[in-house]
Amino acid sequence: MCGIFAYLNYLTPKSRQEVLDLLVTGLKRLEYRGYDSTGVAIDSPDNKNIVMVKRTGKVKVLEDAIQEHFSGGEYSEPVLTHIGIAHTRWATHGVPCERNSHPQRSDDTNGFVVVHNGIITNYNDVKTFLAKRGYEFESDTDTEVFAKLVHHLWKTHPTYSFRELVEQAIQQLEGAFAVAVKSKYFPGECVASRRSSPLLVGIKTKTRLATDHIPILYGKVIPRSDSTSEFMPMEEKEVEYFFASDASAVIEHTNRVIYLEDDDVAAVRDGTLSIHRLKKSLDDPHAREITTLKMEIQQIMKGNYDYFMQKEIFEQPESVVNTMRGRVRFDGNSIVLGGIKDYIPEIKRCRRLMLIGCGTSYHSAVATRQLLEELTELPVIVELASDFLDRNTPIFRDDVCFFISQSGETADTLMALRYCKQRGALIVGITNTVGSSICRESHCGVHINAGPEIGVASTKAYTSQFISLVMFALVMSEDRLSLQQRRLEIMQALSKLADQIRAVLKLDSKVKELARDLYQHKSLLIMGRGYNFATCLEGALKVKELTYMHSEGIMAGELKHGPLALVDDSMPVLMIVLRDPVYVKCMNALQQVTSRKGCPIIICEEGDEETKAFSSRHLEIPRTVDCLQGILTVIPMQLLSYHIAVLRGCDVDCPRNLAKSVTVE
Ligand code: F6R
Repeated sequence: MCGIFAYLNYLTPKSRQEVLDLLVTGLKRLEYRGYDSTGVAIDSPDNKNIVMVKRTGKVKVLEDAIQEHFSGGEYSEPVLTHIGIAHTRWATHGVPCERNSHPQRSDDTNGFVVVHNGIITNYNDVKTFLAKRGYEFESDTDTEVFAKLVHHLWKTHPTYSFRELVEQAIQQLEGAFAVAVKSKYFPGECVASRRSSPLLVGIKTKTRLATDHIPILYGKVIPRSDSTSEFMPMEEKEVEYFFASDASAVIEHTNRVIYLEDDDVAAVRDGTLSIHRLKKSLDDPHAREITTLKMEIQQIMKGNYDYFMQKEIFEQPESVVNTMRGRVRFDGNSIVLGGIKDYIPEIKRCRRLMLIGCGTSYHSAVATRQLLEELTELPVIVELASDFLDRNTPIFRDDVCFFISQSGETADTLMALRYCKQRGALIVGITNTVGSSICRESHCGVHINAGPEIGVASTKAYTSQFISLVMFALVMSEDRLSLQQRRLEIMQALSKLADQIRAVLKLDSKVKELARDLYQHKSLLIMGRGYNFATCLEGALKVKELTYMHSEGIMAGELKHGPLALVDDSMPVLMIVLRDPVYVKCMNALQQVTSRKGCPIIICEEGDEETKAFSSRHLEIPRTVDCLQGILTVIPMQLLSYHIAVLRGCDVDCPRNLAKSVTVE
């Protein structure tokens, strides 16, 4: 949901052209966060002004514009210290166009320029305040008020440092934001801050840094002349800094990063980074840690695949193993989840388990609810984060609330987390992103370890969230004698899962043929029940978001209560009918469909001739234990939506109007 990238080199010569290349590469890594428009700002060749380039559309359009206008000549001369800021936008306020693209500026001399991710909710009040003071607005964005507010503060408080100006501005803003600011009045400096939107600082030095911590400076705004003492000198003289919305944009430069916290103001001046906060409360730390990223550059490259989504679908045999690695002991039939093991006794005493998420992450909760109910013998409630908040749902101190999120930054999920935390519930994070807000704000949690997911449509994160919740259910039932047989059956099935996923992936060409039959249709109904209902919801979501076709996941038991009216000989229907406890009921639904001239495509078990006989076409998947079927049935749906999207000429990794990591409510 908008990507921010800023780069600053200090005493490390780089030409403006190199800086522009760096900015464009950074934006490409963040493109999945939004691709309505892009922009960069760098210093002009005489170093006195700021030059901006903005374009509607994807980063490639910006790259071409930069190559056309800024290559060679004075742009290729090395500069010792330089700063550039860049942005890729997912439009919230104002239609996608150049005027609304970031960087947004304070005035027509580009005094202060800002890139921003999030929503400033009180921007109208601030706009009115500034308009009364003569500011004229040129965009429809909330971001522009930030640039103009900093400018106003600069005019009214001429002694303030750059950091202090930004700090004053954020005090007056409400909402969620991450910002990086550059100014022609403060050359070689960059200031960045965040509140509820992610932001990290990457640090690259020639030799290893002398410290693993940057002290946090607390206190009031101090006039510029006194503020030098606040800066923590770093031993390295030559240094490069990166501000980015996530680690994928910095990993090719450095693996040393600091995750900023809400209301941190990070400033670089004279090559030195400082992190400042206005107020200190008792439990605030003294320093921010410089962490080492575990990510590898190959993980964020497409390799031989055409799309990230395709790569991520095919990574699932490995990603599910990575989720279980070091946790599941197949020989001893035991599971240890290090991130929550100390909390298990407390969780066992809870009133109920609440599973909260959005979109695909929510579906992983639907997929595992039945098993959690069975193995924990606790009430399990699944909630869409947005609806949960709308209802002001009652939460109690003895509730255990799980927040499931690939990005760990989804605003609705994060708000729901804070709501539950305030009410005293135990917070468990299930995320794929180390260092994310949900991760940091949870009491305990499970990293799903699926590896970076770049395709906007979630695939491997879903199967890893699913397995993480299954592992949790197994941990909770470890000491229940009556459940040991069931646990054993599930453990054995888990040990075969990677090979079975490989077998399902071999259906790819068959699924592609199916996609050829379906891609010109307007709609696809996906039906199932029991453990496979979640696959219907998730499959329909994948079809909608990737192909722009209508699709609906239908609980087969509800068919006769309405949806059956949609069925005729021309409506494409896909049904999941496996040999599990709801098989007979699924067969009833199947017959209801065929007797209305429906010609369903069926996902069934290998060798199930009886069921296949009812289908127009079928996909056979290996047999596994009922509660893990959803992993094997969702993969054909991922492949199907992928192939339909390709055939319809859709942009698979960047579906229209969407973005990964939805950091606005
Ligand atoms: C769909 C998809 C979204 C996300 C949802 C939550 O393919 O990716 O529905 O699942 O936006 O995102 P996270 O899991 O990052 O909280």
